Amino acid sequence: MTVSRRSFVSGVATALGYMGVAPEVDLFAQTRRQGGAVPGAPRTRSAVDDWDSFAKLSSNENCWGPPESVMKAMNSAWKYSNRYGYPDGNLVQEIARHHGVKPENILLTAGSGEVLDVVGTTFLPAGKKVLGVEPTYSTVYQHATSIKTTAIKLPLGKDYRIDIPAMIKAANAQASQLGFVYLCNPNNPTGLIVTKQEVKQLLDGIPQGMPVLIDEAYHHFVEDPNYATSVPYVLEGRPVVIARTFSKIAALAGMRLGYAIASAENIQKMRPYSMGSINALVKWGGVAALKDTASQASVKKMVVDLRKKTAADLTAYGYEVIPTETNFFMVHIGREVVPVIEEFRSKKVLVGRPFPPMTQHMRVSIGTADEMAQFMTAFKEIFPAKARNTAAGV
Ligand SMILES: Cc1ncc(COP(=O)(O)O)c(C=O)c1O
Repeated sequence: MTVSRRSFVSGVATALGYMGVAPEVDLFAQTRRQGGAVPGAPRTRSAVDDWDSFAKLSSNENCWGPPESVMKAMNSAWKYSNRYGYPDGNLVQEIARHHGVKPENILLTAGSGEVLDVVGTTFLPAGKKVLGVEPTYSTVYQHATSIKTTAIKLPLGKDYRIDIPAMIKAANAQASQLGFVYLCNPNNPTGLIVTKQEVKQLLDGIPQGMPVLIDEAYHHFVEDPNYATSVPYVLEGRPVVIARTFSKIAALAGMRLGYAIASAENIQKMRPYSMGSINALVKWGGVAALKDTASQASVKKMVVDLRKKTAADLTAYGYEVIPTETNFFMVHIGREVVPVIEEFRSKKVLVGRPFPPMTQHMRVSIGTADEMAQFMTAFKEIFPAKARNTAAGV
């Protein structure tokens, strides 16, 4: 977590509570702070036993944890913990090789959240704004606020999809004010993709040279063949910055590792604003994770199977689920989500924060089979069964 994000969390999120601007990673801490916490005070953490007792379906993590290969690699790196310079498994080279780019196209960061901040600092000078949609992963917008600028946020289009023609129109109409465009693909919180044709349409339609940050945090969970990574656009020489993370598929959220892929020129512009401080353990863990494709395939299969099962159970119970391509989904609950979050909490299930204006949807991360069963039991206790409704909502 970067300094700017941390100060945002401790200073502002407490005051704003559930207004929909707190980073997801803080839902747990945030709910513990209700009533009495002072803006600027350090955040309260739960006791370990209390924390362990929850099904944590609020932050889109990987509930299974890192595979054996990654744990082994990290454990072997403890011997470097007293050093600044040490062998790091050539992580940058390995990432570059994985994507077919050069090492100068990679910037290592403490989670991809740092990429989002660094892109903001680099490409929003002198009050330039970021253009994106709402709801989406709002860290980019929060960072814009922290550096004293703002975002231009467009509503989602039909069926909660990102409206690419509207984005192109806004990018052209407001070009002089804009520093970059933010596209979260697949989008968080809806779980929906922007197709590869739409990404091309966007890149071709916005003013030439306008940077586009494409956040591919959930890339690994997508099954839809109409989706593709946008890394080839970097190779084509377009001003695209891709954000990737080891937090999701590779289960290293607590270890903080992510990276940007961009032109060497843009990486050079961004580098001065990054902390450049990645710990020795996760560097080795990252190298092992990249190589352990079998574990990644197995995580993807478990996530896809569980998300399909849970969506089918909810649909059979009469509730509409947005057809997600990620390790989380949104269910239309038909009433305000804020009190519902607390109801789930009292049943030892943590669900996602509100995502205005979709405040009658609840975002739920995929957990283990047991956790999803616990979620379904809680859901049925909180909500009545409904006759199947085929009206809008998915
Ligand atoms: C879309 C998206 N981007 C980026 C992040 C940041 O994750 P991290 O900093 O752990 O890589 C998240 C975390 O939930 C996310 O949902």
